[in-house]
Amino acid sequence: MKKIAVLTSGGDAPGMNAAIRAVVRYGLGVGMEVMGVERGLQGLIDDLFVPMSMRSVSDIIHRGGTILKTARCPEFKTEEGQQTAIKNLRAHGVEGLIVIGGDGSFMGAKAMTDRGFPSIGIPGTIDNDLAYTDYTLGFDTACNTILDAINKIRDTMSSHERVSIIEVMGRNCGDLALYTGLCGGAEVIIVPEHKMTIEEIAATLGGGMEHGKTSGIIVLAEGAGSADELKKELAARTDMVVKSTRLGHVQRGGSPSCRDRYLGTCFGVHAVKLLKQGKGNRIVGIRDNKFYDMDIIEGIAMKKKFDIDLYNTALIVGK
Ligand code: ADP
Ligand code: F6P
Repeated sequence: MKKIAVLTSGGDAPGMNAAIRAVVRYGLGVGMEVMGVERGLQGLIDDLFVPMSMRSVSDIIHRGGTILKTARCPEFKTEEGQQTAIKNLRAHGVEGLIVIGGDGSFMGAKAMTDRGFPSIGIPGTIDNDLAYTDYTLGFDTACNTILDAINKIRDTMSSHERVSIIEVMGRNCGDLALYTGLCGGAEVIIVPEHKMTIEEIAATLGGGMEHGKTSGIIVLAEGAGSADELKKELAARTDMVVKSTRLGHVQRGGSPSCRDRYLGTCFGVHAVKLLKQGKGNRIVGIRDNKFYDMDIIEGIAMKKKFDIDLYNTALIVGK
């Protein structure tokens, strides 16, 4: 393969720039031409191709977001959209595509592959909701951003002896809540994979108060409810003052952590190596600290298993 293209799609994630940089520099290093596609899958349809050079990825490794921009593109789900994308790729002489994104974007990459266009997926999403890989790009940075917020909220909750509900992102996946709840010392963690009743939440908080706690932190995954709603329900069942914070998009931005720069770089290099070998139809990931790749259809079909042992540990040490 002599010419490849790279794009970022779906929700952005810190570390995407590190992955773009690695794809471009490693690709050029092994004698390929590399094109960037702006605005994700939409850019394939709208013909937003830009030639990439060693210098076009200078000074980006430390930046959040994605220099190629990203988008959600409903048109890509249609046969017409996909045919236009392939026509444009071929018109530029591109022979292989790297899609950096989440499960939705992987469906787009799979559609390309199904139509005979070799495509590789790199897992880029803060949600950590892909079963075939232990970690997705951006998850670690988002966790650290959330922890920073929890630490700050904890200071004021502690001073005022209040309870705070902190709603975090993650779509239908509870990993952001689980890891930040565990590491932020939350008393209660509420995730879609293991819902709690309002009585259980109140009882868990109340248990802490009986043991001398005077403030509390509840981390709530967005897929398990809303902080404002929960605040109303909880306030009716406790004497404590309850506050709610929805962290929102602050979780998606910021300079990528060391871990996400490492993952982005190694995922990017791995993806180019696959295309160099003429392989499409694969998604790259990390399992037990080893980078690997697997069939895109098999990978997408895998169902993520929630780490219930870690969840129980978090609740025990949060008491
Ligand atoms: P993420 O990749 O972060 O999961 P989305 O779920 O929004 O984000 O998906 C990103 C894009 O992937 C969508 O806007 C659409 O262009 C494409 N996509 C999603 N599902 C499909 C599908 N079934 N077939 C083709 N493309 C899809
Ligand atoms: O998939 C990443 C994510 O940040 C989810 O956690 C969240 O539900 C969603 O994207 C928000 O999407 P948007 O930025 O389009 O509001």
